Amino acid sequence: MSDAPIPYGRQLVDADDVEAVKAALESDFLTQGPRVAAFEAALAARVGARGAVAVANGTLALEVAYAALGLGRGDLALVPAITFLATASAAVRLGAEVRFVDVDPETGLLDLDHLAATAETLARGGRRVALAAPVHFAGAPADVARVRDLLPDAALVEDAAHALGAVHRDGSPVGACASSDAVIFSFHPVKHVTTAEGGAITFADDARRALAERLRSHGMHKDAARFSLDPESPFVGPWYYECDVASTNARLSDVHAALGTSQLAKLDHFLARRRALAARYDAALSDGLLAERLVPLRGGDPQAHARHLYVVRVRRDAREPLERVAARRRDLFLFLAERGIRAQVHYVPVPWQPAFRATENFPGAESYYASCLSLPLFPALSDDDQARVIDALAEWATRSAP
Ligand SMILES: Cc1ncc(COP(=O)(O)O)c(C=O)c1O
Repeated sequence: MSDAPIPYGRQLVDADDVEAVKAALESDFLTQGPRVAAFEAALAARVGARGAVAVANGTLALEVAYAALGLGRGDLALVPAITFLATASAAVRLGAEVRFVDVDPETGLLDLDHLAATAETLARGGRRVALAAPVHFAGAPADVARVRDLLPDAALVEDAAHALGAVHRDGSPVGACASSDAVIFSFHPVKHVTTAEGGAITFADDARRALAERLRSHGMHKDAARFSLDPESPFVGPWYYECDVASTNARLSDVHAALGTSQLAKLDHFLARRRALAARYDAALSDGLLAERLVPLRGGDPQAHARHLYVVRVRRDAREPLERVAARRRDLFLFLAERGIRAQVHYVPVPWQPAFRATENFPGAESYYASCLSLPLFPALSDDDQARVIDALAEWATRSAP
């Protein structure tokens, strides 16, 4: 058995992927071109969307999606307290105000009761929620239909950075926008498929998608019917373009898109391997000392779960102070690290970050954060390496008591 370090996640790039990238490098297009369009079409078909807008990363996917749905200065956006920074930062960068919503510590997903209470308090104070971003944490689909019921007038953006291949309870694929206005994906190397850096957005509405296509490329358009100068003017010609909303360069390149299309063809295989590895962790954690010390995050139907992360929580004894749970989690992290197993903590509660510093308490997020650890989970993780992780957990369990 090897003793090479085991990361919590990594890409699986094969010879086909390398060939696809090489072909792109040898083509006429390096920046956005036909391979981006092909990647968008393949992604939209895979997730049952009307189209997709590929962008440079998942963070810009959030920013472009929020902007295309009209989020702007002074607007209010609701974001879960446990997510990656980007879900909240993208709103702040557009000048919006972020309010955090607590999560259920057993799932890491939005706490819908807290969402309802927050929305009610805001409404009573005369504040309108412009946008909410439910996160499909770890790959488990959040109940977006219920979020829609609770916030009928808000724009809804599903943050599906963890959830390519997940399926909603109504059977619709995550990405189809069945109950939302937009869905974003990330193609960072630890995600289900990679473009190295990359992201994409799907929209319920074609006009929003068309706006996002402009926003990803400087807000430029070449539509004569919308020019502010007379199209007959000598200053207007085939070269002419206009910008009616200042934006940025969020484009994906054809080189990255070539990798994405090649990877996407293997998504089912990647998902099956992730689910098989997760089932093995589930089995190992289902009894004995491991079950006494650790509890997997609940995620609902295993076949609907995209299994981006496999999160375990250090079990908390009744009335045990959170500090003691957190100390055991830190001990487990370090114990695994000494054995070359690089688990990870997803995530530090965003409202705790100095950039956001919220004054409210988020007991669900605090309880989740104190106890959580993401174990290695990626398609290239071998059975032997997973056995190393499980053996190390078992060894830790024998010496760790609440
Ligand atoms: C929940 C979530 N949202 C957004 C992002 C941003 O994606 P990217 O790293 O591609 O910018 C990530 C990335 O890790 C994420 O986990």
